Amino acid sequence: MGSGIAETVAAAGHDVRVHEPLAQARAPSLARIVASTERALTAGKLDSERRSALLERISYVDELTDLADRELVIEAVLEDLAVKLDVFDRLAATVSADAVLASNTSSIPIAALAAAIPAPERMLGLHFFSPAPVMRLVEVIPALGTSEQTLATARSFVESLGKTAVTGPDRAGFVVNMLLIPYLVGAISMFEAGFATREDIDSGMVLGCGHPMGPLTLCDFIGLDVVCAVCDSLFEEFKRADYAAPPLLRRMLAAGRLGRKSGRGFYEY
Ligand code: CAA
Repeated sequence: MGSGIAETVAAAGHDVRVHEPLAQARAPSLARIVASTERALTAGKLDSERRSALLERISYVDELTDLADRELVIEAVLEDLAVKLDVFDRLAATVSADAVLASNTSSIPIAALAAAIPAPERMLGLHFFSPAPVMRLVEVIPALGTSEQTLATARSFVESLGKTAVTGPDRAGFVVNMLLIPYLVGAISMFEAGFATREDIDSGMVLGCGHPMGPLTLCDFIGLDVVCAVCDSLFEEFKRADYAAPPLLRRMLAAGRLGRKSGRGFYEY
């Protein structure tokens, strides 16, 4: 997601700095942006001059302190509260007090992140959808203490990306995942119960309902660890059975089948 967000923001003409602490993760991140912009070039969405300018606007930095002059920072680290709190703690000590701090989380309360930093009124959720350069929505999630000014800055930033901002509640699932997850859970449960093959479930929704991908392909695309984390946060908050992660999903995680990124999920890659 971090790579996709960096590409999206650079494509809109903003100067982007990416902090990736793992040296070995930087080259794959840049390779994803290069490949994605190559697709955009081939499709006529970018010309080669704009593509070069886009790539030049992105730089990778070693230290979090290299983000000190940023006006807006979007965190896209793994969905682990302790890791995110550590990042925001260090970020808040690095950037200026009026910089907007945003999280791309899909499962952690924004209020829990905001409570951990000084000046929590500058914190909110900016939830992008995958693939970020293509999907046209960003959910903008104010926490209880987010200021009107932060919200307005974030909404105009989203508009500057050519995307539509939907303001959602700081509740598990926001707007989209609250609707998407029961659908995905239903498809996994249907497959687990042997009602239909993976291909028939997916073809049903692609051919019958015009979805770009079937639900099991979409789970693999999102990442089964992310799907499970969102299920857990929704279930924890609302205790509704249609949010509960099916046993098969947990067994697949235990077996290391995370979807596309690990080479195997409901399908093999
Ligand atoms: N920049 C700009 N445009 C680009 C681009 C780039 N880097 N790369 C591709 N595009 C354009 C293409 O030109 C194409 O445009 P047209 O429709 O005008 O032809 C379009 O984007 C689709 O790209 P591709 O042709 O490369 O790919 P595709 O047609 O095979 O579609 C897909 C791939 C976009 C992933 C599609 O299958 C899809 O939309 N799937 C569903 C994705 C989805 O549901 N995402 C949300 C997941 S939930 C989530 O992310 C949140 C969460 O918290 C879990």
